[in-house]
Amino acid sequence: MLVLGIESSCDETAAALVEDGHMVLSNVVASQVKVHRSFGGVVPELASREHLRNIGYVVREAFKDAGKTQEDIDGIAVTQGPGLIGSLLVGVSFAKAMAFSIKKPLVPVNHIEGHIFSAFIENPRIEYPLLALVVSGGHTSLIYSLQQGHYQSIGRARDDAAGEALDKLSKFLGLGYPGGPIIDQLSERGDPRSVSFSIPKISDGSLDFSFSGFKTAALRYIQQAGIKPRRSGSRVTRAILNLVASYQQAIIDTLLRQTQKSASRLHPRSILLVGGVACNRQLRQTFKKAFEEGNSVAAHVYFPSPNLTTDNAAMIAAAGTPKLRMPVSLDLQLNAYADLRLC
Ligand code: KG4
Ligand code: ZN
Repeated sequence: MLVLGIESSCDETAAALVEDGHMVLSNVVASQVKVHRSFGGVVPELASREHLRNIGYVVREAFKDAGKTQEDIDGIAVTQGPGLIGSLLVGVSFAKAMAFSIKKPLVPVNHIEGHIFSAFIENPRIEYPLLALVVSGGHTSLIYSLQQGHYQSIGRARDDAAGEALDKLSKFLGLGYPGGPIIDQLSERGDPRSVSFSIPKISDGSLDFSFSGFKTAALRYIQQAGIKPRRSGSRVTRAILNLVASYQQAIIDTLLRQTQKSASRLHPRSILLVGGVACNRQLRQTFKKAFEEGNSVAAHVYFPSPNLTTDNAAMIAAAGTPKLRMPVSLDLQLNAYADLRLC
């Protein structure tokens, strides 16, 4: 089954052709990083305008790269939410119009389910039950699944998402945008135990996440230690290297602790680390060590290659494939929802 995936929930316009849910024939992503960089974050109005400008080209490229035509596909899968409403609407409207004109079925996909499926593309035999840690610029969620298509929310961000916390500190320190990959690189040169961040205890025993306290603590530390944001072109000081390494470590420690707690309650066979922040090398290593070699509940840890970890449309096509195997027709009432829930 050949599926066209379309993704436009945030600042990447993406289209991909995927065969049988795991053979990626093309995976095209038009990044808007340059457009948003000077603002230090995604500007929603600019994002939807860019999607509109790029979507036709990105979809054409996806067909070209795969050597396929519109007649070859069995259906279209499009991200319906959650995300920026103006951005989502571009993808959903384009997908509806295309499905209507070429008379193919269309299925909506939840972006979070897309991230979960991203791990299956390279590892189709991941065993259930699974526990997925979805960590990105917009989400930090622990999701448990006993079988495909059935999800239970175990924990979620109460304030900033993990990626957002990294992006904000990077912006504040003048390190650049997006902050996650920059902090990932710089942390290698800093001492992760040099600044202590106390990990908040969520008193009701839930498995939620909270990162805004780290941001406040970092800003206080910056003031007290007299750290100056980097001026463009200048070297990154040792004080900044140590701070970002410690901040990243505090985020990783929190992610690990909540995942370990969930795993010891639920005993999953597989742990999936997905979403943009899952590109982080230290995070990947820490999880591998903890669950495959350490004293935590034993489970296989899976994380996709970086181009499938950040937002892409191959994961949307993969998540849409089982839905398209059911009898579906084109629903022209299909809409986008900024706050769409998975469970
Ligand atoms: O999944 P994604 O592309 O978009 C959302 O759905 O949000 O994730 C983007 C987030 C950004 O916050 C970015 O800073 C973070 O992923 N990110 C990283 C790394 N690469 C991207 N965070 C930590 N380490 C990385 N290597
Ligand atoms: Zn995402």
